[in-house]
Amino acid sequence: MIRKNISLKLFLTIAITALFYFHTLAQNWDIPANKSDKNSYIPFTDETSKSGEAIYTKNCQSCHGDPAKGNSLKSLKPIPPDLAEKQTQDRTDGDLFYILTTGRLVMPSFKNILQEEDRWKVISYIRSFNKKYVQVLSKTDPTKSKLVKITMEFDTLSYKVKVTAVAEEKTGVVPLKDDEINLFATRYFGKLQIDKTVRTNSEGVAIFSFPKDLPGDKSGIVGLVASISDDIYGEVEFQQKLKVGIPTDKPSLTEKRAIWNVLTKAPIWIIVTFTSIVLAVAAILLYILFTLVKLKKLGNAKE
Ligand code: HEC
Repeated sequence: MIRKNISLKLFLTIAITALFYFHTLAQNWDIPANKSDKNSYIPFTDETSKSGEAIYTKNCQSCHGDPAKGNSLKSLKPIPPDLAEKQTQDRTDGDLFYILTTGRLVMPSFKNILQEEDRWKVISYIRSFNKKYVQVLSKTDPTKSKLVKITMEFDTLSYKVKVTAVAEEKTGVVPLKDDEINLFATRYFGKLQIDKTVRTNSEGVAIFSFPKDLPGDKSGIVGLVASISDDIYGEVEFQQKLKVGIPTDKPSLTEKRAIWNVLTKAPIWIIVTFTSIVLAVAAILLYILFTLVKLKKLGNAKE
């Protein structure tokens, strides 16, 4: 009896926690502040809203229904919100862009499906259901990102990486002041952030402390990626290899005893057994096929 009570309590606790979790999940999106502040560089007009509607009909309507009609797909969990409602309209354009770009659970990520421009057009359509909406335009000019030049230098004495970001305008070189720069080292899988996010000074320079014990390749070379986000020039990434790591003879992913290296490292007996099993199965399948064909011929002959 006591046991039963305990398991019932346990069950209830888990059920309530889960319900609570899904409930909060349905409302809160964890959106980084700099993404939330992002604005569209495309002015929202009747025209962009119209092309946005076509994109919406094709990609969103099946789940979200028609805005302001409350006819979203109720069988989904969480239920896709009606995007004309206050909950969605209260979000910033940056929030909507982030939600569209990354997705979450049932809500798909449109990062590789819709181009940035098309994502803004859908948002333009969603905003057309909000009479009170006033657009804040981004100052970013995406065509200008090509002008940005980033350089990296490593100071072996202080173990610091100096990243300089400038824009080479026709009128001269303009430093990218007071912008956030992140520095990463590329690893086998993904990127490792080096130091914190640093803001550039008035010369467009940001200094990063580099760890003294980061493994590099055989000669200590590490792939570095600097990414900068500027109001006017947009987001720019720059990659460079620098000799900043500790020389390491790390096993390559395809040589040595990697688990997926079957050709040079598998013992003979495994190769022989595996191959004979595969061949035996293939032979049986062929035999069945052959018999079936024969059977069909026999049948045909009888008729
Ligand atoms: C497969 C179904 C599905 C499709 C397709 C889909 N969504 Fe969603 N969407 C959802 C669900 C479910 C949620 C709620 C997700 C959550 O809260 O975790 C959601 C949430 C959202 C939100 C957040 C709403 C809010 O205020 O909480 C926005 C904005 C949104 N979707 C826009 C779009 C747009 C625009 C498209 C088309 C380009 C789209 N969705 C396509 C299912 C879908």
